[in-house]
Amino acid sequence: MNVIVANDYKEMSQTASQMIEEQITEKPDSVLGLATGGTPLGTYHELIKGYHEGRADYSLLSTINLDEYVGLAPEHPQSYRHFMDQHLFRLINIDLENTHIPFGKTEDLEQECSRYEKVIDQIGPPDLQLLGIGENGHIGFNEPGTSFDSETHIVHLTDSTREANARFFESMEDVPTKAITMGIRSILKSRKIILLASGERKAEAILQLIQWELDEQFPASSLKSHDDITLIVDKDAYKKVQRKG
Ligand code: GLP
Repeated sequence: MNVIVANDYKEMSQTASQMIEEQITEKPDSVLGLATGGTPLGTYHELIKGYHEGRADYSLLSTINLDEYVGLAPEHPQSYRHFMDQHLFRLINIDLENTHIPFGKTEDLEQECSRYEKVIDQIGPPDLQLLGIGENGHIGFNEPGTSFDSETHIVHLTDSTREANARFFESMEDVPTKAITMGIRSILKSRKIILLASGERKAEAILQLIQWELDEQFPASSLKSHDDITLIVDKDAYKKVQRKG
């Protein structure tokens, strides 16, 4: 695992956006795997800036997002489709037809999961997958205990994940209880993976990621079986590792 420790959130975001721009320059029709949450927002901001400065052209790019809340329509302000449109897709020259996110408002969840896994196989796998990490080590919405062999599936969100994401909703009751997520096996199909973490809130998860062997109780540890992982963390998120070292 390649580890880059950035001074702060801005430097972490710039490092990640540079790697993404290099990927697109090298292969303009790349497939990017994308994540939501607060952590990648700075990276998306840098990509938008780079687009305006002529550093990258997104016209041939395709994207595959990790997950979506069950029950939220694409136009719902807290849906991940809305998040991606608002924070990235509508601000660069990507063709929205080439952006893929599970459909959370479906009547048939199982069918939506298999449709999405087919999308991953037909369009993907991603050349480059961007990941955040939950405080309990989840990636995508793969909560502790998820099989490393999993493909796109439905998850019941843990209370801690719902609480961590409640800040985006008006009240705790509004936070969905289920989500559709790419599975661990689907994520590991990506050729290259970048995991971002920022702030002290993630320090324990980063320490566990560095220390733990493969263990389904800590989903991010699955990344240790991949041969092209770059961890880009800021100093606060790396604090506990440095203290141990
Ligand atoms: C959510 C997302 C994950 C994300 C995690 C961390 O649960 N499904 O993909 O990595 O939150 O979010 P944040 O970056 O806001 O800390």
